[in-house]
Parts: sequence; structure tokens; C-alpha cells
Amino acid sequence: MRNVTKDNITDVFKGYLVDDMPPRTREIMAALVQHLHDFARETNLTHDEWRQGIEFLEGCAAIESEDRHEFVLASDVLGLSSLVDMLHSRDDATSSSVLGPFHVSGAPALDVGGDMKRNFGGPVLLAEGVIKDTDGNPIAGAEIDIWQTAPNGLYASQDEEQDTFSFHGLMNVGDDGRYAFTTVKPVEYTVPTDGPVGAILDACGRHPWRPSHLHYIVKAPGYRTLVTEIFPDDDPYLDQDTVFGVRNDLVMTYHTKQAADFPEGMALSGKVTESFLSVKFDVVLAKE
Ligand code: BEZ
Ligand code: FE
Repeated sequence: MRNVTKDNITDVFKGYLVDDMPPRTREIMAALVQHLHDFARETNLTHDEWRQGIEFLEGCAAIESEDRHEFVLASDVLGLSSLVDMLHSRDDATSSSVLGPFHVSGAPALDVGGDMKRNFGGPVLLAEGVIKDTDGNPIAGAEIDIWQTAPNGLYASQDEEQDTFSFHGLMNVGDDGRYAFTTVKPVEYTVPTDGPVGAILDACGRHPWRPSHLHYIVKAPGYRTLVTEIFPDDDPYLDQDTVFGVRNDLVMTYHTKQAADFPEGMALSGKVTESFLSVKFDVVLAKE
């Protein structure tokens, strides 16, 4: 087609898609370009604005690395990551939530009842629950990969003061599906703002804060892997998470308990001398 106009360019693009391309690729490319073109027509996008958009993408690419995934962060703050999560979340299972950029593969084994707090300050948090199927039966042999920030709000990969795997642990649960560990109460923290995503947040007048959370990836053979987070119900950022990760069923109460009520069978049993926090969070996995 040589007589391309602003009104027919979208159909011209679709006409260039060849017949024998995979149907899903065709569907996605056609819809993507339809929305891109409609966006430009609707906003009457100028050359300068288009250039700024390209510079944003170039800026993301320039700082993209093993430890810094600026495109993912862009998707997170625009709500796309959470929208994709919710499109594929199952109503009868625990909600999924953003993975974020700070998960590290190869975390050290953490026994059921183990401790991630070590000598970090702040009150002990005891987190426990059962990994269940959608009928409420415990899933034997499930695996739970846990990570969070240190009390300074930094993940190990952001902080030279911490070991590579500080506040990361991989737990294999027993036949009763029960997991339990001690840690510190996570704190709210900001997503990285020193790159192009920070500029977008600024331009929109948005803050970069996330409510405090524990991250879990829960896996079991025959079940859909769940990437999720747990939030305390008193966090000031619960209703304004900059990456849209909060779901009702992921918000839990952290109860304060007396040292004498600290249970047996934990790495810290007999060593907790002050009041501690306790959160119970059962995880429901859907079958594959
Ligand atoms: C996180 O929770 O680790 C996270 C999620 C999305 C963007 C940045 C951080
Ligand atoms: Fe996080």
C-alpha cells in the first residue's frame, strides 16, 4: 500500500501480517499496534513527545543488567505486571503478586522452624502457615522460597553490608504442609528511583513506596507455582502500593505475643526474651 494515511495505517499494518504466522503472534501484534496507533491518534502525539518516549526506552535499556531490570520496574509501576498477574490468578487459590527484581536463585536451605533474623535488630517476627490444596488438604513436599528486605529497607543485592543470601531462604515443608520461620518485621521501602522509572513517577506526582511485605514463591509437583507476598494490615502504604501488588487475601494481622508464648521446636525457642510478632498465613495452591 503506497497511499498510507493516518486513518488507514493501522489496517495497512495488519495487512502486512503474513498468513502463515502463528495465530497468537498475529493476535498480539495486531492488538498492540491497534492500541499504539489509537494512543497516538487520541493524544495527537507530537514528535517531541514521541522522542521522549523513545528516550525513556533507551534509558531503561542503558541501565538494564543482571541486578537492575528497569523494563520490569516500568511494567510494575504502570500496573501492567499486576494486571497480567490478576488475569491469570485463580479465585479458589491464594492471589499472586509481583515477583519484583530482588529474588535471587540458589537461596540456602532454611529448615522448618529456622531463623532468618540472625543478629539483625528489631522484634522477632514468627511467620507460619500451611500449604494447602483447594480442598483444604495439606500439600506434602511443597517448597517455599522466601525473601525480604533487612530492617534498613534494602535487599541483600542492594546492600554491600549484607551477605548475598541475607534474608533469603528455601524451605521444604514436611507431610503436614506446615512452614514456619523467624525473621525481622519487614519495613516499607521505595522502589529504585534513580533511573527513567523514577522520572515517570515524578512526572505523575507519584511516590515510590511499597508497603512492607514478605515474598514467597511456593511450588509443589502437580500444582501451579505461586508467586506472592504477605502484607501487615497496619502498613501506611497498603492502599497506595506503587506497584499495585496488594490483594485483600494477602493482608494479615501481625499479633504481638509475650516471650513466654514463643513456641517450642523453632531455632529461636528458649532464646526469645522480649515480646515478638506472629503472623499466620496459609497458602492455597491450585492444581496445574
Ligand atoms: C519488590 O517487592 O521487591 C519490588 C516489586 C516491584 C518493583 C520493585 C520492587
Ligand atoms: Fe519486595
